[in-house]
Amino acid sequence: MSADVSSDAGHDARLDAYWMPFTANRQFKQSPRLLTGADGMFFRDDKGRDVLDSIAGLWCVNAGHNRPRIVRAIQEQAAELDFAPPFQMAHPKAFELADRLAQIAPAGLNRVFFTNSGSESVETALKMAIAYHRVRGEGARTRLIGRERGYHGVNFGGISVGGMVANRKMFGHLLAGVDHIRHTHDPARNAFSIGVPQHGAEFADDLERLIALHDASTIAAVIVEPVAGSTGVLIPPAGYLQRLREICDKHGILLIFDEVITGFGRTGQPFAAQTFGVTPDLMTVAKGITNGCVPMGAVFAQQKIHDAFMTGPEHLIEFFHGYTYSAHPLACAAGIATLNTYADGDLLTRAGRMEAEFAQALHSLRDEPNVIDVRNIGLVGGIELKPIPGEPAKRAFNVFLDCWNQGLLIRTTGDTIALSPPLIIESQHIERIIATLRDALRRAA
Ligand SMILES: Cc1ncc(COP(=O)(O)O)c(C=O)c1O
Repeated sequence: MSADVSSDAGHDARLDAYWMPFTANRQFKQSPRLLTGADGMFFRDDKGRDVLDSIAGLWCVNAGHNRPRIVRAIQEQAAELDFAPPFQMAHPKAFELADRLAQIAPAGLNRVFFTNSGSESVETALKMAIAYHRVRGEGARTRLIGRERGYHGVNFGGISVGGMVANRKMFGHLLAGVDHIRHTHDPARNAFSIGVPQHGAEFADDLERLIALHDASTIAAVIVEPVAGSTGVLIPPAGYLQRLREICDKHGILLIFDEVITGFGRTGQPFAAQTFGVTPDLMTVAKGITNGCVPMGAVFAQQKIHDAFMTGPEHLIEFFHGYTYSAHPLACAAGIATLNTYADGDLLTRAGRMEAEFAQALHSLRDEPNVIDVRNIGLVGGIELKPIPGEPAKRAFNVFLDCWNQGLLIRTTGDTIALSPPLIIESQHIERIIATLRDALRRAA
């Protein structure tokens, strides 16, 4: 659908019905950005332009677009078994995928529960945590602790433990019994850090403050993103995640890592837990699990958590939770083909090999107009801009529109540009991303 069918004042009524998610709908419909094809590092738009994808779609197309092996697996699966009920029934590829995932997971996270999105993975993990304590006889542990500036999807549990104001303020009182530790952003000490910032491990001690307030016996779990993405790419300070782990262990609190964006190679290892050497009790994933091709998410659980549920009469359901589309055959087929594609290209560790080059290119933008911080890890980059006074988010949005016009797709959140390119990225793509951004930053000055 192209804009040349517009009627008066550029208004195309055919765009009206679709209420778009997390989108400035009115702006978009005046000037639509429509994608009609994709291949490798590029999208194609409805005008036939190639658009370089510097964000892996939405942090999900880690192996690049339209990988033939994944496409074929989905096509074949659709023709063979379109659907299998996941309650009291299953199909072989669900077990195969869970087993393959457990093989690349951090040590001990060897039980896999399937969902259809990151948001559903978060809800599932939160429920698992509370129910786990209950089945062990610690039913008073119901409190959930999130972190300021955290993003854990858009469902009620996720926005309750999340800490992004715009995602919470419109929706009432949210879940009761939730509290938040402070965020880790400390530009005064850490601005322009290359890789992991050195200051701020002590921010983890804020958990001790909440434990002193609520008492550990009421707390089920702490959930954090190892690298906070949606809030604008916040890299954990050195030692911070270790310290969180120690405090959770000391008090019998489960630690949940939300790896929806960090999973599947983004930080240089299959999961950020491995990059940082800290193993959580539960880990949520989605996005890269199927290379973004078919909606799917999962929760990885330590075996002790799974086993705690396996009591009582054997004919009874142990965990009253699940989705009609959990372990959907198309998603499982896509997931297996995705893992094969990652393995063939050695992609799950490629971000580590590209990190130095990516970081150097990214940090070359530090002296461009209005750049107040540059942050990076693996193949994740954040460029924070000084907001236009009184118009937060506008400068970054202007850069986004300019880049789009120049054939580059970036993502912005507030006044931070967040980059997360497909893991197949090569030097010439990095150069083009940085050159386009540099020009756009100068024009936005
Ligand atoms: C850390 C984190 N958790 C959860 C989600 C929600 O995932 P979904 O949009 O698939 O529900 C996201 C999405 O970006 C995310 O970044």
